[in-house]
Amino acid sequence: MRFALLWLLLLVLVLVMGSDRTLATGQEAAQQSLPSTHFGAPDDPQSMTRLNSPITGFTNARPATNPQAPDAKPVGQQVCTACHAKEADNFAHSTHSLGMEAAIARDPATATCEACHGPGSEHAKRPAEHGLIIAFTKDRGTSVETQANTCLNCHEGGARDHWLGSVHQRNGLSCSDCHNPMTQVSAEGLTAKESINQTCATCHNDIRQQFNRRSHMPLPEGQMACVDCHNPHGTLSAALMKTDTVNETCYQCHAEKRGPFLFEHAPVRESCLNCHTPHGSNQHALLVAPIPMLCQQCHSHMRHPNDLFTPQQLATGTGPNERLMGRGCVSCHAQIHGSNSPSGPRLHR
Ligand code: HEC
Ligand code: HEC
Ligand code: HEC
Ligand code: HEC
Ligand code: HEC
Ligand code: HEC
Ligand code: HEC
Ligand code: HEC
Ligand code: HEC
Ligand code: HEC
Repeated sequence: MRFALLWLLLLVLVLVMGSDRTLATGQEAAQQSLPSTHFGAPDDPQSMTRLNSPITGFTNARPATNPQAPDAKPVGQQVCTACHAKEADNFAHSTHSLGMEAAIARDPATATCEACHGPGSEHAKRPAEHGLIIAFTKDRGTSVETQANTCLNCHEGGARDHWLGSVHQRNGLSCSDCHNPMTQVSAEGLTAKESINQTCATCHNDIRQQFNRRSHMPLPEGQMACVDCHNPHGTLSAALMKTDTVNETCYQCHAEKRGPFLFEHAPVRESCLNCHTPHGSNQHALLVAPIPMLCQQCHSHMRHPNDLFTPQQLATGTGPNERLMGRGCVSCHAQIHGSNSPSGPRLHR
């Protein structure tokens, strides 16, 4: 009897510990993955964009507030489409439209067009007078602030926690500079151009062009997007980095560079950008300068020869030098990102 009880206790213990372990690895996995590129994962409880959500979404969609037409009353979708059949046609295929139709089927009073454009009675009376309807086109009388607030009514928080004060907000960008909710031109994200990268390139074409250099990460090949490293809606870190530091962003995909290492190489810990440029380089492996000059920017008093390198020292020259030949310094200092070998303090192995 005693034995049986003991076994039972043991079994319970094992079960409890087992479940604890799966929980822990689950959390670790979450910590190691980059915040999702598709910010509004449907199963993300933080997401403010879930369809049928009791708090937000379309279920309780109300007409937006237009400070320039305080007396306007909602008129409903049929009135808008009477004059804007073409726009309504394009809109019918968009993510918003699908959700709104579902909500309207349940409650015909749900705001649709007017959830974004504000109440339309005044505009319907005097369509040529700008400002009476919330417009997202430049110079149509609606301030950028009103435009953004309209979208943020439903999309506040999450990836947009730091929209206010972000470099894009401060420079007067509107949500509609990157998003076009009136028609489905992109597979996802309702971006203004077919892809995220093209959308960013409308203003940052110089950066997009850098990805055409000889060495680059596979962004032109369609395997990556600007939002793998940046959150265009604003972050707490410089240059809209998606994580707190540059290195943290790089570790998400280059995890083996995180270490820990027995012998660290100080500049790697400090910032990958000491030696690499993220958007493209004409040097091998995205390096900011060719080897050995890259290394000599910091290492000038070495115990081994510290030559001034000349073309004669190339493999084809009269006095070939191993520090210029092949992979240069990294022919010997191969573990340039850090070494775990007990005899690797010089990053040899
Ligand atoms: C500088 C460009 C840019 C600006 C400005 C911008 N966005 Fe985005 N937004 C993007 C990109 C790129 C994505 C990513 C799409 C994807 O991952 O599929 C995105 C994703 C989203 C998403 C879908 C994913 C999610 O987070 O739920 C929403 C909603 C969104 N943005 C709303 C807004 C709102 C509201 C504003 C204005 C306050 C805004 N955006 C301003 C570029 C921008
Ligand atoms: C009686 C016809 C009529 C009705 C009804 C109407 N519109 Fe318009 N709307 C127009 C015309 C005409 C223009 C073009 C004005 C111009 O280009 O000067 C316009 C322009 C707009 C614009 C562009 C902003 C601007 O200032 O040019 C938006 C957005 C818009 N309408 C949305 C709506 C919405 C939403 C509704 C329903 C609430 C609606 N309209 C109802 C005729 C109408
Ligand atoms: C999710 C928010 C949203 C909803 C819902 C919405 N619109 Fe728009 N609408 C926009 C934005 C943003 C733009 C500016 C698009 C752009 O950048 O060209 C716009 C532009 C327009 C324009 C002006 C087009 C131009 O060339 O400037 C008209 C007209 C319009 N919408 C009518 C409608 C009608 C009619 C409906 C309902 C069937 C509707 N909208 C629903 C956000 C919305
Ligand atoms: C009435 C609430 C409401 C308003 C106002 C609104 N949205 Fe949305 N939006 C939603 C919902 C709900 C979804 C669907 C989320 C989903 O699919 O999980 C959505 C989806 C999106 C997406 C993601 C689409 C995709 O395919 O991934 C973007 C981007 C977006 N909205 C941008 C905007 C912009 C820009 C504005 C202002 C012009 C705006 N929204 C206004 C409720 C709203
Ligand atoms: C409508 C124009 C426009 C679009 C589209 C745009 N940006 Fe910007 N972006 C700006 C402006 C303006 C600035 C600030 C001026 C500057 O520093 O060059 C800026 C600055 C930045 C910065 C530098 C931030 C800093 O702190 O130095 C990053 C990173 C950036 N944008 C990323 C993106 C990404 C990613 C996209 C696409 C999702 C995008 N931008 C789309 C206009 C735009
Ligand atoms: C592999 C990650 C990565 C990708 C992908 C990426 N960036 Fe960057 N971006 C960075 C880093 C890192 C910085 C520099 C941050 C710093 O200097 O502190 C940066 C800086 C910037 C800056 C501001 C500084 C400058 O060089 O002018 C802009 C603008 C920018 N990126 C836009 C883009 C655009 C647009 C895309 C897509 C075409 C893109 N980035 C793709 C990592 C990335
Ligand atoms: C979203 C994933 C992702 C992120 C984030 C990322 N990389 Fe990459 N990186 C890649 C991929 C994919 C390759 C190509 C690997 C291949 O071709 O085998 C690559 C290649 C490289 C290369 C080798 C290029 C060559 O020509 O051999 C370097 C160097 C590099 N990345 C540095 C960085 C740095 C520095 C950062 C942080 C600013 C970073 N990466 C962030 C995915 C990423
Ligand atoms: C002290 C300079 C230096 C720093 C700092 C540095 N790297 Fe490198 N990295 C190099 C050199 C040199 C090469 C080329 C090695 C070769 O040719 O074998 C390289 C190659 C790479 C490669 C491609 C080959 C490989 O090993 O996979 C990746 C990816 C990479 N680095 C990522 C990173 C990341 C991520 C960081 C920041 C954590 C970083 N590097 C920091 C010097 C550096
Ligand atoms: C941004 C400056 C910087 C760059 C660029 C740089 N290093 Fe370093 N390196 C350091 C610092 C700082 C240390 C640590 C020195 C110490 O601990 O005394 C170090 C340590 C080393 C060590 C170990 C030396 C020792 O005394 O333990 C080697 C080997 C080395 N670097 C080789 C290289 C090579 C090869 C390159 C080029 C691919 C390079 N470094 C690029 C700054 C740099
Ligand atoms: C043929 C192999 C080889 C090549 C090529 C080489 N090194 Fe070294 N390096 C060594 C060895 C071996 C040591 C260890 C010397 C010792 O511990 O006394 C060393 C030590 C170092 C050290 C640490 C000791 C010191 O003198 O401060 C630095 C820094 C260093 N090398 C940088 C470089 C740089 C930069 C280059 C390229 C210009 C380079 N090495 C090319 C073999 C090489």
